[in-house]
Amino acid sequence: MSLGDTRRSELDINPVLNGRYSPRAFSDRAVTDAELELVLEAARWAPSSMNEQPWRFLVTRRGGDGHAALLATLNHSNQVWADKAPVLILAMAHRTLSRIGQENFHARHDLGIATAQLTAQATALGMGVHILGGFNALLARETFAIPEDFDIVSVLVLGFPGDADQLTDNLKERELRRSPRRSLNELVHYGSFRG
Ligand SMILES: Cc1cc2nc3c(=O)[nH]c(=O)nc-3n(C[C@H](O)[C@H](O)[C@H](O)COP(=O)(O)O)c2cc1C
Repeated sequence: MSLGDTRRSELDINPVLNGRYSPRAFSDRAVTDAELELVLEAARWAPSSMNEQPWRFLVTRRGGDGHAALLATLNHSNQVWADKAPVLILAMAHRTLSRIGQENFHARHDLGIATAQLTAQATALGMGVHILGGFNALLARETFAIPEDFDIVSVLVLGFPGDADQLTDNLKERELRRSPRRSLNELVHYGSFRG
């Protein structure tokens, strides 16, 4: 599926943003080292509170070190389709500000920006990213010996979108239906908050 096929907003927002969706069907096409480096580099240049750059990514490749273990942390409903994806990324946020040793209130916020940049870059390269909260963070912490000072926030499923026919009927229907959005009117308040 190309970007043009998945246009969502009627307004003329950037095609990378308009074409992005969360895929469940992945193709066999491998993600090259150069492509992977580009999406991680895009995350690297995200803005962050006090330029702390609290995001950390644990990357695994299908068939490689840690991949089966990271896949095993996913909820079954996510595992059934994510097992086809060539790359999984455990996304974490460092909770402490390195310069002053205090809690970084914006750590997860900034991880979110980095994740959005990673996702936009992946989309620009024709890939898709499906962000997951449905996984066992405790198990991930144990499995990979992640220190307590890092919040384990999400798993990113990365790869080139594939044929929806490989999915069960239920998942196929969700793959082909683009999720709706609230209206700008509900999301945006000008001048005062309407409640
Ligand atoms: C933090 C976060 C957690 C999510 N967790 C899951 C998940 O566990 N399983 C899943 O299928 N999708 C998950 N999603 C994907 C959302 O359901 C999806 O982004 C939303 O429905 C909008 O659809 P779109 O991304 O295709 O526009 C998650 C997304 C985010 C940002």
